[in-house]
Amino acid sequence: MKKIFITGASGLVGSNLAKLSSDFYEVYGFYNQNKPNFPKVTWIKCNLENLDFEKHFLEIKPNFCFHFAGLSKVNFCEENPKLTEIVNVLATEKIAKICEKIGCKLIFASTDLVFDGTKKSYTEKTETNPLSIYGKSKLEAERKVSENCKNSVVARFSLVFGKNSFSFGENFSEFLVKSFKNSEKVKVFFDQTRATISAKNLVECLLELAENEFKGLMILAGNKNISRVEFAERIAEILKLNKKMIVPTKTEEILDVKIVPLRIKLDNSLAKKILNTKILEFEEGIVREFLPLNCVE
Ligand SMILES: NC(=O)c1ccc[n+]([C@@H]2O[C@H](COP(=O)([O-])OP(=O)(O)OC[C@H]3O[C@@H](n4cnc5c(N)ncnc54)[C@H](OP(=O)(O)O)[C@@H]3O)[C@@H](O)[C@H]2O)c1
Repeated sequence: MKKIFITGASGLVGSNLAKLSSDFYEVYGFYNQNKPNFPKVTWIKCNLENLDFEKHFLEIKPNFCFHFAGLSKVNFCEENPKLTEIVNVLATEKIAKICEKIGCKLIFASTDLVFDGTKKSYTEKTETNPLSIYGKSKLEAERKVSENCKNSVVARFSLVFGKNSFSFGENFSEFLVKSFKNSEKVKVFFDQTRATISAKNLVECLLELAENEFKGLMILAGNKNISRVEFAERIAEILKLNKKMIVPTKTEEILDVKIVPLRIKLDNSLAKKILNTKILEFEEGIVREFLPLNCVE
């Protein structure tokens, strides 16, 4: 059986990959603070800040490493630039060098925030211009991956929606569903649009990228840009929940729009050309992630 190593296996993307792959691969997962209760994965506690994880890779010798762990809250990164550099850049550089050394294909999760949002749409060829410390750290990490590991993929994605496979977390879509179910008002940005993608759909694409010959940069995004309010309304409609809980809010009331672009439209044409996995329409993704609704505690 091939071996998969997932960093950030307790997070939204990592947990979905860990669950999906655990029937067909031997799966090892790093967690930091939240140990999942899922026995089909060998769990290893690791704080990337310490940069002392090489021994695990040498022992396990994985065929594929999916590097998802990192600091991804834009405001937190802005306030903690040194820590962001260590976790997002230095740890990624080290992982890339280890993967090269042990002959492991590396799949790295990057972000649409390497872009500034001023262009109509973004392909793999569009020039980058990150505005935030988070976006800059991910772009630097992308460079470390491509410079240090020949057999690697950098996947850039926008907002990912869905359910953490091992816990009910606090990501945007989980928070919306929970608020709707509890009849709690929720502030949602009406002026921010993204080509959002379902976590389950995303990890199928990532697994296919690991197994095929593709190397280099690929955008993985949904088929159309939708605003966060439209996103919240469609979730409420599909799950038959109360959309009156949505309070449309201007992004600048909560976030610094100088570092978080309002509109980023990722173009997924390359992914559609290369991958056999179908990129789901937004509505199909919601059904896949959240129905039956009793999966939501
Ligand atoms: N979700 C999105 O919308 C989105 C969009 C674009 C790009 N991305 C990128 O995709 C990746 C995965 O995102 P996600 O949504 O799955 O993230 P997430 O749910 O926030 O999970 C973050 C993961 O990183 C781990 N982690 C955080 N700090 C760590 C540290 N110091 N040492 C070791 N592990 C650490 C966490 O472990 P514990 O929970 O165990 O502490 C968790 O497993 C990230 O790199 C993110 O930048 C995500």
